Amino acid sequence: MDYSLITKSKCTDEEDPTTRKPEYDRLSKLKSFDETRAGVKGLVDSGIKHVPRMFHHQFENNSVSCGIQVSIPIIDLEKVKQNRTTREEIVGKVRNASKTWGFFQVLNHGIPMNVMEEMKDGARRFFEQDVESKSRFFSRDYTKRVVYNSNFDLYSAPAAKWRDTVVCSMAPDPPKPEELPAVFRDIMLEYSKQVMNLGYLLFELLSEALGLNPDYLKDIDCAKGLVMLSHYYPICPQPELTLGSSKHADNGFLTILLQDNVGGLQVLHQNQWINVPPTPGALVINIGDLLQLISNDRFTSVDHRVVTNSASPRVSVASFFTTALVPDTRLYGPIKELLSQNNPPKYKETTVKDFITYFNSKGLSGTSPLPHFKLSKPSHGDK
Ligand code: OGA
Ligand code: NI
Repeated sequence: MDYSLITKSKCTDEEDPTTRKPEYDRLSKLKSFDETRAGVKGLVDSGIKHVPRMFHHQFENNSVSCGIQVSIPIIDLEKVKQNRTTREEIVGKVRNASKTWGFFQVLNHGIPMNVMEEMKDGARRFFEQDVESKSRFFSRDYTKRVVYNSNFDLYSAPAAKWRDTVVCSMAPDPPKPEELPAVFRDIMLEYSKQVMNLGYLLFELLSEALGLNPDYLKDIDCAKGLVMLSHYYPICPQPELTLGSSKHADNGFLTILLQDNVGGLQVLHQNQWINVPPTPGALVINIGDLLQLISNDRFTSVDHRVVTNSASPRVSVASFFTTALVPDTRLYGPIKELLSQNNPPKYKETTVKDFITYFNSKGLSGTSPLPHFKLSKPSHGDK
């Protein structure tokens, strides 16, 4: 595909002040951008110097932490199987981090460095191939095995994000190699196998952190579904106007994030945006809304976002443990073993599907779906 075909007037909503029309036809701008199938990368490759209006975000007033250096916990998993004491120490750290931060990084997690590097390279190759090859996977139909597009919520979110994504559903029904894009098929299969194993370990530690038997979360299918999102955040000519990912919390059970060394991910902690610094060899773990719900708020699903930069494109691979893309009628509510008279359930039961449907229906503006599933507070005297 010749990038010069993606002309500014056709696929961006850059405004020429001399011909500015009184009405801004956002929908048609979104459509013409979408129809290029070239994503944000296509805009950048076409040479735009200004961020089109559909990508402009309204920024809230939380500043990035600068004074006191707080950072998300880093947990070394090396001794997780050494003995009971080392295990309990690690479980304690996981418990604390999952409650107070909802985010932590792990080291010595068992996924070899070269597998992580190759996965990032594979994702980069996918986005940096020609548009024609990518566009074979272009779709908004998430029942498909592989879906490539820019902004899954392009038509419903208040502002578009400065990133392109390819989504692959990897479990419970693993893909045949030929169903995956050739540029990263082998590494995708290898990396996802490793991510599943790490997921099993993390769900064991999280179960233990809740005082449950190690298999508890796995047995209720928290590790059953794996959806992998490879993101590409192109360089941005005006980073102050847009975001690579707007403020949100992940809606599954757990996310394992692989980021390259560019940086940009931030976590909202005590009302401040804290950078999650790229750490060699580490993976970022975060609690999703559904785990907050079943843990009855013992764990917290925390808002995060990605800022853009004008220096270097960024690649990340987010692996979501969720059954959002598979039919599943299991009901999830606060885990009974965690409840007592002093700790009554805070949420109603829901299927993953109903939870996600509600999440998507809100127009993805960054507000949590959890309050909608809250039980009303029992009045005094109720049991
Ligand atoms: C996500 C996400 C962060 C990143 O995919 O939900 O928050 O660094 N990604 O790409
Ligand atoms: Ni996220």
